[in-house]
Amino acid sequence: MKRNGFFLTFEGADGSGKSTQARRLAETLKSRGLDVVLTREPGGSAGAEEIRKLLVEGDPARWSAETEILLFTAARRDHLERTILPALARGAIVISDRFADSTRVYQGAARADLRQTVDKLHSLMISHEPDLTLVFDIDANTGLARGLARQSGEDRFEELGAGFQQKLRLGYQALLQDFPDRCVSIDGSGSIDQVADTVLNAVNGHLP
Ligand code: ADP
Ligand code: TYD
Repeated sequence: MKRNGFFLTFEGADGSGKSTQARRLAETLKSRGLDVVLTREPGGSAGAEEIRKLLVEGDPARWSAETEILLFTAARRDHLERTILPALARGAIVISDRFADSTRVYQGAARADLRQTVDKLHSLMISHEPDLTLVFDIDANTGLARGLARQSGEDRFEELGAGFQQKLRLGYQALLQDFPDRCVSIDGSGSIDQVADTVLNAVNGHLP
């Protein structure tokens, strides 16, 4: 399917401020009259939202890393088919709060060393990359505190603790080196308004 729109993803450890900033940016771009679709992973389509519940709730040891890769990929395939590609085909800006880089970092590096499996399944079932990826960087303890303070009931991954958050941070730093053409690091440590300015600066100039 032809892609006319722009595919922007927000990545980073839990509590790094991605969702807050993705919402802010979507509002800003909509107020400029642009066609914007704000979506998220896991989820973003009816079927993928059902799979999300299996993934984010319950015991941290509920699934093996391998099973997780399959569930995240199944959810992503549905999200891609039903939400992302149709929106891009009509020329929309799609902002996704997480996409395939989350699997590369969480299942490929932080939870397990399964990057080859992740890459194979990605090329078999997904094989689309974002046009631009903003990678939110924040001190592991600050991110963890912010994430748990939300009390969303979706803390299966946050419950893995600060050591895990630190692994995620390193995983995302490696991702910036793997995909330097589309990945930009965003300092998530300032106030919400300060980070929103950084995000706008990073995005302006890239949008069609
Ligand atoms: P993520 O989507 O990366 O997990 P959220 O955007 O949901 O992070 O933010 C996690 C929590 O931290 C939320 O309660 C949010 O209101 C708060 N938060 C987000 N950005 C900031 C910021 N720059 N400073 C302080 N608190 C923030
Ligand atoms: P999300 O709702 O974005 O969490 P948060 O707002 O706390 O950042 O994502 C749910 C959890 O799923 C999060 O801990 C990251 C994890 N995840 C993976 O492990 N692999 C993936 O491929 C995706 C998309 C998410």
